[in-house]
Amino acid sequence: MSVSEQKQNSYVFQGSIDKPGLQVIRGEGIRIDVEKNGKVHRGIIDAITGAAVGALGWGDSEAFQVIEEAARTATYSYPPKISNKSSEALAKYYIDRSPKGAFAAALWTTSGSESNENALKIVRQYWLERGLPNKIKIFSRESSYHGFSLGAQSISWNARVEPYQPYLIDREKVCFKIPCAYTYRFKKSDETEEEYAQRLVENLEEQIVTADPDTVAVIIVETLPGSSLGTTPPPKGYLKGLRQICNKYDIIFYLDEVMCGTGRCNPNGKLNCWENYLGADEAPDIQTVGKTLGSGYVTIAGVLVGPKIRDAYLKGTGIISGGHTYASNSFNCEVALGIQRKIERECLTSNIFEMGNIMGNMLKERLFTTDNIAGDVRGLGGFWSIEFVKDRKTKKALDPALNIGPRFQDYCFDNGLSVMGMPGNPDGSCSDRVLLAPAYIITKSEVEEIVTILVHSIKKFSENLRSEGVW
Ligand SMILES: Cc1ncc(COP(=O)(O)O)c(C=O)c1O
Repeated sequence: MSVSEQKQNSYVFQGSIDKPGLQVIRGEGIRIDVEKNGKVHRGIIDAITGAAVGALGWGDSEAFQVIEEAARTATYSYPPKISNKSSEALAKYYIDRSPKGAFAAALWTTSGSESNENALKIVRQYWLERGLPNKIKIFSRESSYHGFSLGAQSISWNARVEPYQPYLIDREKVCFKIPCAYTYRFKKSDETEEEYAQRLVENLEEQIVTADPDTVAVIIVETLPGSSLGTTPPPKGYLKGLRQICNKYDIIFYLDEVMCGTGRCNPNGKLNCWENYLGADEAPDIQTVGKTLGSGYVTIAGVLVGPKIRDAYLKGTGIISGGHTYASNSFNCEVALGIQRKIERECLTSNIFEMGNIMGNMLKERLFTTDNIAGDVRGLGGFWSIEFVKDRKTKKALDPALNIGPRFQDYCFDNGLSVMGMPGNPDGSCSDRVLLAPAYIITKSEVEEIVTILVHSIKKFSENLRSEGVW
């Protein structure tokens, strides 16, 4: 009997083939019911909201009303031919809630990867519109994640990218890599954070000069890297330094805020993460967003462009040829708009910024006062990570072959908490880590619950590793 003739357990081609794995049944607020091996586990606390997607939490009745209304009123059209008012309204909404003059237009897509694909094409057309076709080089970072599609993988660097190299954009001529900004591991002990940032910026400038600035198109970084490095905030002055380099050499400054943006880490009750680090006059020229824009109720993401980009198109051809079938989809845009309005009305961006920071600080206090595998607790607002290490003092990474991050994820689930456990980088440059990104509606007592379960789980898990002789 061939393998395909045997009894099939799963018809979905993802994750572990033929293992349906965990399946969500329903959700309410910050809790989800999940089926595992035929048994439904009720009331699991969702501390990661899928992949940092959920803002409103699950089963939100206002979101259902918005969806119902949009289903009645939205009529599908193919946007490059016939557009719609909802996509215009959502673009205006995002632009109006960003610092004045930062953005001038937006394109709505259906995923973060698709946003980054489109943004790369926007970069190319921008230089063509300006009559500078030789500006083709892309600088993005080591240990980065910009999506699962081929263009997005080309600008990323992580273990999952490597097998696809033959199909990716040329690394010798087009896609260059710059060092990641990772204070916990790469700031020297005799350096201040500012000096570390300065070193990174000088290193970048050298690379650009070597590559020939007249051929450099764009610098792309995640404002607050998520799955790739575990919410490591940029060292002080780093993003400003990148902005200055871009100004100096006429290069596009492009931030990926798919995971950290749209309210997850904004200090002003608004949308963009970069507002923690940059002034309005230092805004990115291009920014990709996604995840919490639709809060898991619709599949929507986007690309925002600044006035500089839009003006070049206007002065040039004024046209973008083609587009995706479901780009700027009216139903998706209308639902996202309704969700964002509720988030704003109920000040949920401010809430997650405050509650998330409380969560991070509680974790630091409780984890660092006892012996366990937590080496670093870092993050901002509603986006936090714990990096596990073999030795807290030396920061020695755990053996990646032990798969500690994913194993801890399973362990937490059995203790009633859903988190994202990421494996360590194979080269040891970043150890295993666990990511947290709860819904914006979270309360102080729910934060307490997450911290209590997490701290307890880390303690017990560490004890298990010790008895296995691997920690
Ligand atoms: C920074 C960043 N960019 C892009 C993406 C890709 O988004 P999507 O999975 O919606 O394609 C992700 C996904 O996690 C991400 O974290």
